Amino acid sequence: MEELKRAVAKEALKFIEDDMIVGLGTGSTTAYFIEYLGKLIMEEELEDVYGVPTSYQSRMLAIENGVPVLGLDEVDAIDIAVDGADEVDPQLNLIKGRGAALTMEKIIEYRAGTFLVLVDESKLVESLGQKMPVPIEVIPAAWRAIAEEIEVFNATAELRMASKKDGPVVTDNGNFILDARFHRIEDPLDLEIELNNIPGVVENGIFADIADIVLVGTKEGVKRLER
Ligand code: A5P
Repeated sequence: MEELKRAVAKEALKFIEDDMIVGLGTGSTTAYFIEYLGKLIMEEELEDVYGVPTSYQSRMLAIENGVPVLGLDEVDAIDIAVDGADEVDPQLNLIKGRGAALTMEKIIEYRAGTFLVLVDESKLVESLGQKMPVPIEVIPAAWRAIAEEIEVFNATAELRMASKKDGPVVTDNGNFILDARFHRIEDPLDLEIELNNIPGVVENGIFADIADIVLVGTKEGVKRLER
């Protein structure tokens, strides 16, 4: 599995050119991409490339690996964003947020000229929600009310815990995460919008209609899916 992640991360480097502003996703696959990107920058094979991190995790990794970082408020535009995903359906709709960074990921990836997704073949599903719950970032005081409200969608929601000792997972924005299991997600775009309409929901992990290219690591090599 790690080999497949490394292979897609290497392939993603082919999309990066001098003078690009690159959105840096969060997670184990993107971590390889950040590492390889840093190497190219340090070896001066790429010039004037800056990363815009989607989390403290990717910011720290970027700094560690020699990728200069800028905040979203310091750049005019993002040329390309590169990130992993938890599920990808045949229309290239995604579920993201296992790493609890979904809000900043969506803010940056929505604005990128190209949104490039890196996954291994285990992430491909026939329909979203098949294996993974949908993470929902919520204002802490509202978590229980929202968890109950989610039942209207024929779903169950659980508060994500770091551990019994450490308590709930707290996002980079100081919020909680609910993991919602839906019986069936018929229309991802519709559900994405409906969930965000619930007061107290900051953002949810359905990324419908925003991925441009998905690189899939398979045992037979890296495959490219496009919308
Ligand atoms: C982070 O919040 C997530 O959206 C990740 O991008 C997603 O969970 C994929 O992570 P891996 O590359 O570690 O599977």
